[in-house]
Amino acid sequence: MLIATAAEAKTLVVYYSYTNKCHEIVTTLTSQIEADVVRIEPAEKGLKYEANNYALGTQLLNAIKANPNDASSYPAIDPVTVNLTDYDTYIIVTPLWWSQMAAIMQTYLFHHGAEMAGKNVGLIVSSHSSGISGVVADAQRLLPNSIWMGDALWINASNHGNRSSLIENWLTTQNFPTSNDMTQKFYITIGGVTKTATLVSNSSTEALVAQLQKGNITYEAHDYSNFEKVGALGYTFPENNTQITTKPGDLILYQGSNLCIYYDTNSWNFTRIGQLDNMTQADIKTWVKAGDGNVSVMLSVSGPTGINQVKSDEIKSKAYTLSGTLAQDGQKGIIIQNGKLIIR
Ligand SMILES: Cc1cc2nc3c(=O)[nH]c(=O)nc-3n(C[C@H](O)[C@H](O)[C@H](O)COP(=O)(O)O)c2cc1C
Repeated sequence: MLIATAAEAKTLVVYYSYTNKCHEIVTTLTSQIEADVVRIEPAEKGLKYEANNYALGTQLLNAIKANPNDASSYPAIDPVTVNLTDYDTYIIVTPLWWSQMAAIMQTYLFHHGAEMAGKNVGLIVSSHSSGISGVVADAQRLLPNSIWMGDALWINASNHGNRSSLIENWLTTQNFPTSNDMTQKFYITIGGVTKTATLVSNSSTEALVAQLQKGNITYEAHDYSNFEKVGALGYTFPENNTQITTKPGDLILYQGSNLCIYYDTNSWNFTRIGQLDNMTQADIKTWVKAGDGNVSVMLSVSGPTGINQVKSDEIKSKAYTLSGTLAQDGQKGIIIQNGKLIIR
């Protein structure tokens, strides 16, 4: 069942800039793509992060490093009024400070990373000359459940003047959602109880949905390590692995061929394909029979009507009965046509 098209999808560029290099990068970027922009500002104005051999910048980063999970480790920033739910794609543009993400940008992501879960994210890092792997690691720590659209772009002092073509090339490597991407609902049945989930958009879910359009997948799942119910699907799908810390309800593709339904947390490099809709951890544990042996799991893209997602308008316009068979001309009863229930 398709619930929304990405035609309405929007991109937000979030950036911080101390000496305006990132500002110039954002100006160039937004001459190439359509996006809204928000600039993060420190609450305390006029600070000299570079003074005394970068003493203040170093002090801010050390505080974060010592206690990365504590909000008080992060320097205060001005309030940002943008509503993140209006966007499905974010591009973060940040300076590098001592091989890490600039502290001011870390504050923003620390507070808003959860709102970017399941959303597409790209990263551009500006440094004088240092490599950016530490900044990428910070981004992954702060946005553990986002979908990385591709590798980060590094712009440094020696190629900053060339940023227009660097950005243009980088944009072609990023897996932006296209206007054909759709938010896909997906059904999971265990013990006769069907729950819905929302799939993220990537090549793994595309391949999974394509397989499910040919027929439901049923597999045996077992408990693993008190955090998931996992089983082999019998098919192998493309992987889009990133380091993820799971939360209850996450649906994870492991090694391309196993589906894990998470009821607790775990950190690993694997592919998040979606999330169960509106279920508490307790609901999930009861439903998957956590700690209670093997269960049979059925995956489907059919709604309760039993009709698989229909692709062409021609098929869609045909009338079906509730059991999913084509309705006869003049057939009475409940008919489904063009995604609507009709009582004849
Ligand atoms: C506190 C601080 C620490 C920095 N540390 C590094 C560093 O370790 N390596 C490096 O190549 N550049 C470093 N820089 C330079 C910035 O990464 C670089 O100038 C960047 O382009 C600044 O972006 P902005 O103008 O948007 O603030 C540092 C700058 C500051 C203010």
